[in-house]
Amino acid sequence: MNTQASPVAAIEVTHLGRVFAVRSGLLSRATDLHAVADVSFVLPKGGTFGLVGESGSGKSTLAKIVLGAETASRGEVCLDGRTFGKDTRAEDLRWRQRAVQAVLQDPSASLDPQMKVADIVLEPLRIQRRGIARAACEERLDRLLAQVGLSAEFRQRRPGELSGGQRQRVAIARALVLEPEILVLDEPVSALDVSIQAQVLNLLKDLQETLDLSFLLISHDLAVVAYMSSHIGVLYLGRLMEQGTREDIVERAAHPYTHALIAASDPDALHVEAVGGDMPSPLSPPPGCVFHTRCPVARAVCRTQAPPAHQFSATHRVTCHFPVASHVPNLPA
Ligand SMILES: Nc1ncnc2c1ncn2[C@@H]1O[C@H](COP(=O)(O)OP(=O)(O)OP(=O)(O)O)[C@@H](O)[C@H]1O
Ligand code: SF4
Ligand SMILES: [Mg+2]
Repeated sequence: MNTQASPVAAIEVTHLGRVFAVRSGLLSRATDLHAVADVSFVLPKGGTFGLVGESGSGKSTLAKIVLGAETASRGEVCLDGRTFGKDTRAEDLRWRQRAVQAVLQDPSASLDPQMKVADIVLEPLRIQRRGIARAACEERLDRLLAQVGLSAEFRQRRPGELSGGQRQRVAIARALVLEPEILVLDEPVSALDVSIQAQVLNLLKDLQETLDLSFLLISHDLAVVAYMSSHIGVLYLGRLMEQGTREDIVERAAHPYTHALIAASDPDALHVEAVGGDMPSPLSPPPGCVFHTRCPVARAVCRTQAPPAHQFSATHRVTCHFPVASHVPNLPA
């Protein structure tokens, strides 16, 4: 008997793809837009997979597929050993409705301005028709507000009476009320002042530790992803250019895109927008390597042939014809 079986991953995404049929006019023919193209990664339990990429690179589409708010065109998502694809079991769908929750970018848009904080936080319990006694609900509400750093007096307030940071804390409490196992955080601090961002990120880190949560974190900000993540994926036009542990990406980046992101950025603000040129339209991605139109080290082959994936270690994977050799000790030049 194999007693060394690898532990069940929190998230395992395999060859995931999502194609949208897009029309430019009423009478025009539909064109396939590959928002997510053949993405695979594994996140161990208790970790954070940080997905970084420019606007339109497919981050939210991938997040929605994991949440079950969007269907995949191909591939599979496995959450805590449960497979979500074409023939998902009803009990697994019910599990996901509880166990996988989201915190989105703009808390003002996701919180009903007419509702009080108490009702906002407890609403998912009502929607799921969980027969929990009133006293237990009250107790859970107090505990959650304390966990997100809000005093009991916030119960009666409405979103309009809260600061951006407080609203995001309410959104986090609401995401936790069903006692989830996985949180999908889609740009959770992008709408907040820089001074508040660190507080919310640190709160999320503390909650992860206390509640044993796994995170899928989406951000266009490499600094946020590097600060939070155990594992990082660099997405470009729906494809993972490079992925690895935080150290693989921050200390040993080997893809020219990741390398450019890090090298061209202010160390205090590693914004993806620092890379020059515009991202091509996902409706007509460049042939060969999709990054070749902006790549500083592109050669002729990059314009015609899709690059191979190099597996540098068990965790570090780079899709490029000419990875940046100086950053990978044993890479042949
Ligand atoms: N329902 C849809 N129908 C057609 N195209 C879509 C749909 N949803 C997303 N797209 C397209 O898929 C691509 C990826 O979009 P997505 O929202 O996943 O990107 P993103 O990385 O989250 O961008 P942002 O940082 O701006 O939020 C974009 O080109 C977008 O226009
Ligand atoms: S395959 Fe070529 S164009 Fe693409 S990232 Fe690598 S070197 Fe640049
Ligand atoms: Mg998005």
